[in-house]
This record gives sequence, C-alpha cells and structure tokens, in this order.
Amino acid sequence: MTGRPSRRQLFGYAGAAAAGAAVTGGAVALGNASSGEPPAARDSARGGTVVPYGDHQPAIAATSPRHAELVAFRLLGGTDKAGLGRLMRLWTSDIVALTAGRPAPGDTAPELAIPGVALTATVGFGPRVFTLTGLADRTPRGFIDVPVMSHDRLQAAWTGGDLLVLVGADDAVSVVHAVGRLVADAAPFAKPLWRQTGFWNSTGPDGQPVTGRNLFNQVDGTGNPAPGTPDFDSTVWNEDGGTTLVVRRIKLNLDTWDELTRSEQERAVGRKLSNGAPQTGTAEHDELDLEARDADNRLVIAKNAHARLSHHSENDGRRIFRKGLNYVQDTGATRETGLIFLSYQADLVSQFIPLLTRLDAADALNEWTTTIGSAAFAIPPGFHEGGWLGQGLLG
Ligand code: HEM
Repeated sequence: MTGRPSRRQLFGYAGAAAAGAAVTGGAVALGNASSGEPPAARDSARGGTVVPYGDHQPAIAATSPRHAELVAFRLLGGTDKAGLGRLMRLWTSDIVALTAGRPAPGDTAPELAIPGVALTATVGFGPRVFTLTGLADRTPRGFIDVPVMSHDRLQAAWTGGDLLVLVGADDAVSVVHAVGRLVADAAPFAKPLWRQTGFWNSTGPDGQPVTGRNLFNQVDGTGNPAPGTPDFDSTVWNEDGGTTLVVRRIKLNLDTWDELTRSEQERAVGRKLSNGAPQTGTAEHDELDLEARDADNRLVIAKNAHARLSHHSENDGRRIFRKGLNYVQDTGATRETGLIFLSYQADLVSQFIPLLTRLDAADALNEWTTTIGSAAFAIPPGFHEGGWLGQGLLG
C-alpha cells in the first residue's frame, strides 16, 4: 500500500465530521476535504475524542476502532417500553461521560476512564423490541431478522439478541472498562446473551489512514461508499437518521486458504492482495472492469469472484456499508480465526438480503468461510445535548 491516504479515506474523515462525529484532540487531524488538503503527517493517526452528539450515532461514519466489543442482550421478562427507556437514559449518561474520558456515574474503576482513545458506543434494538406493547407498529422500514442461508451453520451462542451495544476505542482496556459499565447498568433490564471481541488496523506504517486487512490478508473495505458523500447517506441513513446493522460471525478457514497459491486467492475475490486493486487495475480505488478478458478469452475477474458478485453494478445498484472486525477465539491450544462482518444499510430487506442471498448461492469465498453467528439490529438516530438514545421511539 502507498502511505498516501486515499480519496476515500480523506473523505471518510471529513464525512465523519460532517455527520456530527466531530473529532477533537491531538491525534486525529482532519483533512480539509474542500481544499483537498491531506491530514497533517503524524506518528499516530488515531486517538482523540469522538463527540457523542449528532443526528446519527457517530461511530458509524467514523473510522474503525482498533479494538471493539459487541454485547448482545436478552431483555428480562419485566422490561417493557418504559423500562427500556430508563435503560437508554442511563446508557446515554454513561456514554456522554465515557466518551469524554470521565468515569460513568457509580463507576467502580474510575481510573480506567481515560480521554484521547476515540471511545464510542453504538446502541441498537433487536427485532423483539418491536413486539413490546406500544412499539408494535414502530418497526423501522425494511427491518427484519436475517433469514438463514443455505451455507449458514449458526450457533445459538452467537445469534440473535434484543439489544446491542458496540463499544470501540483505540485502547483495549478502555473498551473492557466501558463495556463493564454498560453491562452493569443494564443488569436490572437485560442480561448479556453473547459477546464478541474484535480488532482492526486502519493505520499504515507511517501513521496515515489506510483500508484495513482481514485475516485472509485481503484489503477489505475499498468498495464502500465514502462517509460524507450522497452515496453514503442514501446507503446508510433512513428517514429518521437511524440505520440497520447486521452482525455476522464468519469463520475463516486459514488452513485451507493458505494451501492456495496467491493467484488462486486473488481470483476468489477479484482483487490483488498487494494493494487491493482490482485484477483489472493497478491502484486500490481503480474501478473494476467486469468485462475484461484475458488472452484465453476468460473473464479476468471470475464469474464467481466475490468482488464481482457483490458489486453494486451487478446488484441493481444495491449498496451496503461494511465495517469488519477481525477475531480470534482461542480454546486451549486451538485457535479459530474469523471476521465479525458488520453491515450498515438503511433498509435491510431491500439492500442487504438480496446481496447475501446472491453470495450464498455462488460466492467463490464460500469454500473457505462459514457463518456461525447472525443478528440484526435497528440503530436509532443519534442524540443531542439534553436528549437521550432512542428518545424518538421510547420517549
Ligand atoms: C468472510 C466473509 C467475507 C470476506 C472475507 C469479504 C471480503 C471482501 C473483500 C476482500 C472485498 C473487496 C474489497 C472491498 O471492496 O472491500 C469485498 C467486497 C465486498 N463485499 Fe465482502 N467479504 C465477506 C463477506 C461479505 C458479505 C457477507 C457481504 C454481503 C452480504 C459482502 C459484501 C461485499 C460488498 C458489497 C463488497 C464491495 C463490492 C464493490 O462494490 O466493489 N461481503 N469483500
């Protein structure tokens, strides 16, 4: 990869600011997108503070955190609409404090609340919330649970959930601390159903932002709509300023993947491992040429290549916004590796499900990947000072 931030990444940062995710503090310098001026060189591209307020929950359009934990909860039997509203008020005050690096109210480990780690917390509601009395007609447009696909091998341990909190930061201790506070405050209302921990690196060796890599060594995220663009806004936000999030835990079989040659690996995706460029191009953000053929008249980007099958031009313009997290799960001497696949889209039914169904039927990557967990959440809009998360739904 070159050290230069791509256009997408520049706009990614600017987009985060435009979306209300103002980033302050020393380490995160914003480029001036309108003048095309790049972010100042620095030895760390991360850190800072993500302001928790805005029309949208701010982490979505912001760059991926280095460390993240997702906790899905089951609502306790007695938790009704009013109870959920109480929990959302509690979580809102926790999030306001923790993102600023201050202890949450009643914090038992206040020293672990530190500023400058770009801490964020994103909250979502599972399908069961919209069956509670008073909420039955409030299901967001295009929000349903993801149907089980033919290749899925779902495990209860990673599937479903009535509530989600996704905490990210550039410091793992801060993530553990914030999650601990949010889980403790949820105890009267909801109990954890599953937890998933992941990590992502979107900083190059020179400290500049780059598109991160998954554990298959693929540059992953290139084809995303860029935050701050009309494409991003229409892909991600619904009329209320919310969105939907699909969480898929996808096991990557590194043993059989490693048996492939590099060119076989590149053929499965249709992009180069070196810099993520399409097989028909040279730079990461070159457009895919889906018609190009080689000397033997074979398609250069194979018919079942992942980047072809998922490309919006092959899917009636459907787009999603993906943000992966790598995971490892160690049990004694054995290790499972995978991708916590996160997809944001305004409308899950018309954007995500047709794409997933198509990939399930034909994607070359299916040979080395197995989805073992799946969950869907409606992500409410953001909140402004004095307001609280989910107020429009529960207030
Ligand atoms: C283990 C699972 C997966 C891996 C390793 C993976 C990896 C990749 C890679 C390397 C790319 C090319 C670079 C990029 O544009 O980011 C890509 C593109 C893409 N993937 Fe996946 N992916 C996985 C699962 C999925 C799933 C489940 C979906 C959707 C249901 C999906 C949708 C997309 C889309 C929409 C693109 C962008 C295509 C474009 O417009 O260029 N991927 N993926």
